[in-house]
Amino acid sequence: MIIVDRIREMQVLMHQCRREGKTIGFVPTMGYLHEGHAALIDRAREENDMVVVSIFVNPLQFGPNEDFARYPRDFARDRHIAEQRGVDVLFHPEAGEMYPGPLTVQAVVKARTDVLCGRSRPGHFDGVATVLIKLFHIVMPDRAYFGMKDAQQVAVVDGLIRDFNFPIELVPVPTVREDDGLAKSSRNVYLSPQERKEAPALYQALQAAAAAVEDGERSADAIRHLVKEHIEAHTHAEIDYVEVCSYPDLTPLETLHGTVLVAVAVRFASARLIDNVILRLPKAPRQEE
Ligand code: PAF
Repeated sequence: MIIVDRIREMQVLMHQCRREGKTIGFVPTMGYLHEGHAALIDRAREENDMVVVSIFVNPLQFGPNEDFARYPRDFARDRHIAEQRGVDVLFHPEAGEMYPGPLTVQAVVKARTDVLCGRSRPGHFDGVATVLIKLFHIVMPDRAYFGMKDAQQVAVVDGLIRDFNFPIELVPVPTVREDDGLAKSSRNVYLSPQERKEAPALYQALQAAAAAVEDGERSADAIRHLVKEHIEAHTHAEIDYVEVCSYPDLTPLETLHGTVLVAVAVRFASARLIDNVILRLPKAPRQEE
């Protein structure tokens, strides 16, 4: 595995791979790799000649009161995991390499951000889009892999790739879960033992929502209520949001139809967790669309 920390060196290497006709699969991460990332890497490994993983905790996507400084970092461990997983190139730039000075141009995400995490994390997706524009230009991948745990991020990246004509195939990969259903996340290390016990209630609530829809429930209000009630009854977490919207447009729905995202975010004492399920229903009759 080659480890690169300079942008220029990375671009030369990637140009060389492309000249050799190799396909490039890219897994952008902020490090502290877990099995969710491993699933992205494995999928990229299956579908491409070269697998590139970036590890960069992007300061632009953290708000002033968020966890940028204490976001977990362990490069030695990440390097080991990446190597074991068969990654070819690990791109690990310093913040000064990615942002040598104030940006003169920055991305602003205009849609799909006034709901879910976009509402409670203003500017977050602008930071994500900005770093991804840079990373896509540096890595020049054929395919980019993103976990569905952050379904809104996948929707935003889908828009970014279309709007800016990146010749990149977006590959969404299903959420990887612990045995008790908790979605794998770098932030799970923040949970106290009691919170860790309570945290699977998020997925249980989403599964209860999926079961209700399966049984014919079509009211978004009823689904939101059911999810909230379950989380409130089984955790001490504060609910940030429970939302029901179309996917990938992320338009809030009153009546469920088409592809639907049911998403939650909660705050435990020292960790904010998100999770979601996607439900596929028949499309609405034309006049309701
Ligand atoms: O999902 C993440 O870890 C980050 O948002 C990403 C895509 C690596 C951009 O910094």
